[in-house]
Amino acid sequence: MGYKHLKFPEGTVFLVTGAAGFIGSNLCEAILSLGYKVRGLDNFSNGRRENIEQLRQYENFSFIEGDITDPDTCLDACDGVDYVLNQAAWGSVPRSMKMPLVYNANNVSGTMNIFDAAYKKGVKRVVYASSSSVYGDSAVLPKVEGQEGRPISPYALTKKMDEEYADLYYRVFGLETIGLRYFNVFGRRQDPHSTYAAVIPIFVKNLLNDTPSVINGDGSQTRDFTYIENVIEMNLKSCLAPKEACGEAYNVAYGENTSLNQLYDKLCALLGKDIKPNYGPSRAGDIPHSLANIDKARRLVGYDPDYDINEGLELTIEWYKEFLK
Ligand SMILES: NC(=O)c1ccc[n+]([C@@H]2O[C@H](COP(=O)([O-])OP(=O)(O)OC[C@H]3O[C@@H](n4cnc5c(N)ncnc54)[C@H](O)[C@@H]3O)[C@@H](O)[C@H]2O)c1
Repeated sequence: MGYKHLKFPEGTVFLVTGAAGFIGSNLCEAILSLGYKVRGLDNFSNGRRENIEQLRQYENFSFIEGDITDPDTCLDACDGVDYVLNQAAWGSVPRSMKMPLVYNANNVSGTMNIFDAAYKKGVKRVVYASSSSVYGDSAVLPKVEGQEGRPISPYALTKKMDEEYADLYYRVFGLETIGLRYFNVFGRRQDPHSTYAAVIPIFVKNLLNDTPSVINGDGSQTRDFTYIENVIEMNLKSCLAPKEACGEAYNVAYGENTSLNQLYDKLCALLGKDIKPNYGPSRAGDIPHSLANIDKARRLVGYDPDYDINEGLELTIEWYKEFLK
């Protein structure tokens, strides 16, 4: 259960790329709270400087402002590191439809630079962010590792390519890699302001401002919303998992799905609001349903998520009430 009991050797050093972003900053904070050293790396293409400033209160935290598309930056960042948690990437399916070349450079070449630098610097293991989007046009539910369809967005293909390179670096060069296919992660510090913000931050921000949100499509599409604490648990357990778990990618989710209409109603109830949403056109590249089977992560990594969507939403809303004051 959870991750707070996990033990690493004293002085263990983690490199967290994308440290200024939503998931990266939460990983940094969790590891620093456990007493280990964290080196953060981010180019602030999407992350927030405030997230890094908050982390500077920990004496075990250091930060490199840099870009994973630069191989030398990755080599410097991996020097003396035990574990890399690679979160740096450009997210958003719709934005990737507009700029596929940028996504390839950033998400594929950038991640490959990290694998290559980690290999050259003798890093013990690289745990990297993949995505549920690799299931693409497969209609199979729940999503099970090994039953992927074809990618339906440039973003999805970049994550599939990352998994291919991770597999190659493991099989051919012996670099231990573990891929995490996150399913709609939510929680504190997820940015509600960007044009490409995720659905939960947008809905919460609008409800707190008494504004209706737009739901793309009819709201019947479902997602396996996953609270950030479960994602932290999976990252840290992946570092400690037996070697047999390496060279693989795992679903990281709670294992239950919720429609956007249900999500909206839950948020209205939690915030005590009665504001009807508006409906807009479906978004290209979006998949209709998403639900994870998490048996593989349970079996090989010992993942045992504590937080369901309801507990996660309650905690998240408390945070937004403070953050958006
Ligand atoms: N949030 C989700 O629901 C979700 C779902 C599936 C996969 N993922 C993946 O998880 C990872 C983290 O996502 P997030 O939600 O925290 O996104 P985020 O945008 O909040 O964080 C990503 C961070 O990476 C940084 N970054 C981007 N390109 C970089 C580069 N070239 N060099 C250095 N830093 C760079 C950004 O500035 C940002 O701070 C990403 O790889 C994303 O694709 C997230």
